[in-house]
Amino acid sequence: MRILGIETSADETGVALIEASGSGEEDFRYKVLGNALLSQAELHTRYGGIFPNLAKREHGRNLVPVLMEALRQAGALVAVETDRASNEELIEKIGPFFEREHELHEYFSEFLRAYGKPQVDCIAVTAGPGLEPALWVGINFAKALAFAWNVPLVAVNHLEGHIIVARAKDGILARIDSPAIALLVSGGHTELVEMQEWMRYRTIGATRDDAAGEAFDKSARLIGLPYPGGPQISKLANAAREANLARGAELPRPMLKDDSFDFSFSGLKTAVKKIVDNWGHGTADMKSALAREAEEAIVDVLLAKTKRAVEEFNAKTVIVGGGVSANEFLRKQFAAEFKNGPHVLFPSPEFATDNAVMIALAGYFHAEKKEFIGASELRANGNLRLAN
Ligand code: KG4
Ligand code: ZN
Repeated sequence: MRILGIETSADETGVALIEASGSGEEDFRYKVLGNALLSQAELHTRYGGIFPNLAKREHGRNLVPVLMEALRQAGALVAVETDRASNEELIEKIGPFFEREHELHEYFSEFLRAYGKPQVDCIAVTAGPGLEPALWVGINFAKALAFAWNVPLVAVNHLEGHIIVARAKDGILARIDSPAIALLVSGGHTELVEMQEWMRYRTIGATRDDAAGEAFDKSARLIGLPYPGGPQISKLANAAREANLARGAELPRPMLKDDSFDFSFSGLKTAVKKIVDNWGHGTADMKSALAREAEEAIVDVLLAKTKRAVEEFNAKTVIVGGGVSANEFLRKQFAAEFKNGPHVLFPSPEFATDNAVMIALAGYFHAEKKEFIGASELRANGNLRLAN
């Protein structure tokens, strides 16, 4: 089965085409045929985070070129001499999907005039969680594509995508033993999830305020580093450890000792702000030392809570997913802590942050069970939860 995945929940416009087969975990096989991604991060830099209406506009501009790039990579972008009249009729019919996306409507109409239907069996699109204005652009585009190509739609939970892509590697699903604990750490989410079975989720803890990625982004901004802050903090922190810089100030490890599985990161940015406010002019070394302390504070809390969940649920596998799972220091600390088990799975670094391959993969597992959704029921849900 060939699945086209579409991702627009935050500031990455992604489209991917995968070919997948198998109905179980062992016989599952997949191949990425095309994977295109356009990041808007630079545009959002001056806002220090994602500016929703700007994200929406950019997705509208980028979706058709990104789709074309993914299809081109797959060798599935086929120019056609279409019957003009019937094509114009189709273009007219997709109009209602783009009531609020005029630019996208125009680009997509041009696309339909020039290119025929590729070999695609299903369209999977992120329905949430995420920024609703951004999600809607991808959803409306998916609906129009599904209509034009006459293929079914699958609604994908973005967080499920992050979990699945941590296990789907080298064309197969890596072996896992149940139960598993998943730690989801992204720009908008921080959750601990218990999985007694593959793809059956029970959220056992979440952040009460800022997400882990947000803590990286906000600390970075205070230190004077551009958005997205995670990779920037990581770079300075690695340099600080290498140079053995004195630690400087100590930051809190919020809720480390509390016995829930919840997190709270908003106190961290307040503490970072206090330090920075006292600097006057911070030197490069002061910045690196603070970046290191911020990274270590966040990772300490994530690791301690995951460890507690592993003990409580006797987990045999730990899966870490979401943008923050790209963090090198986090990976090292988790690998060291669990070197004698449980087995820890991370996504390959290129698939840790948002992408459409993870949406196509999650979409496949639902399409395979015929869990399709009608266009009229498919809606964006900014707060969509992981459910059974
Ligand atoms: O999953 P993701 O790409 O988007 C959301 O679903 O939110 O996660 C983005 C987040 C951002 O906060 C970014 O700063 C963080 O992931 N991030 C990192 C690293 N790479 C991305 N955080 C720490 N270290 C990294 N290397
Ligand atoms: Zn994400």
